[in-house]
Amino acid sequence: MEIPTAEWNDPDAAAPQPQTGIPLSPDSPDLVPPVEPGEPWTDDPYAQALRTGRGPLYLRRVEPHAYGVAELIALDVERWCAAPDAADTSVLRRCAGPVLDVGCGPGRLVAALAARGVPALGVDVSPAAVALTRRHGGAALRRSVFDRLPREGRWGTILLMDGNVGIGGDPVALLARLRDLVRPGGRLLAEAADDDVDQRLTVRVEDAHGRHGRPFPWARVGATGLLHAADSTGWILTGRWSADRTFVELHRADTGFDELPVPQLRAIGRSAPGQRSTRGDATRTRP
Ligand SMILES: C[S@@+](CC[C@H](N)C(=O)[O-])C[C@H]1O[C@@H](n2cnc3c(N)ncnc32)[C@H](O)[C@@H]1O
Repeated sequence: MEIPTAEWNDPDAAAPQPQTGIPLSPDSPDLVPPVEPGEPWTDDPYAQALRTGRGPLYLRRVEPHAYGVAELIALDVERWCAAPDAADTSVLRRCAGPVLDVGCGPGRLVAALAARGVPALGVDVSPAAVALTRRHGGAALRRSVFDRLPREGRWGTILLMDGNVGIGGDPVALLARLRDLVRPGGRLLAEAADDDVDQRLTVRVEDAHGRHGRPFPWARVGATGLLHAADSTGWILTGRWSADRTFVELHRADTGFDELPVPQLRAIGRSAPGQRSTRGDATRTRP
């Protein structure tokens, strides 16, 4: 299916970046007047890290407070700015177009899908991320996933990678929103944290010099927490795998089993219409 991408383009994305007021040199902080911390992901050290393709970059926990190394959650900027790795490829193989990559960052997955001829759109609140995705040959829109989006209810696959289940700080609200974006029979490919955490946090993006933006809500969710959130928002589990990182594949729970691909029917041991809870064992079904 051919999807015109021009309609997705957002002229604001390439607009000049707002000044951060953040000292360019940590050696001369006195030269720069103090300013309010900037907008998360937009006017904080994230944009600079994307432009250079390098960290170190962190989410610092502001609330609840943690001590020592637990305060900092490393952001893997180098990997996000590189070509897709083997774990990414295991996700790309499962994509059925059109694909919406939520929080696409610099767009390695959107660009790889486009190169394979799979229609794909990235959405991201960061102007730098949107600009880079386009530069890499992908289509991207500068918008929040909670704003109005193109093709609502008609996406074939939604991607939620690299910790993006944390977006908004409320995985249940996020997964409910994504369920409304996907078409009947569509799927969500989501990455879970490798440790079995289920945390609601307030964080800020911060670099190695302590430069940072405003705090915002975030979540860290391992597979168990992710599947609980999925179960309560009308998703069914149809696949789970590890490839250095941990991934789950979910389908809309109102999907008839006749709409699921045969390998998934085999994987969950069904051949007749019905529905399965993500939490259940091999025999549990929804009423
Ligand atoms: C943890 S990073 C993941 C990066 C990314 N997946 C990649 O490949 O580089 C989170 C990304 O989500 C974006 N983001 C944060 N809140 C968002 C929202 N409400 N809607 C869309 N994107 C958002 C950020 O700008 C950032 O690019």
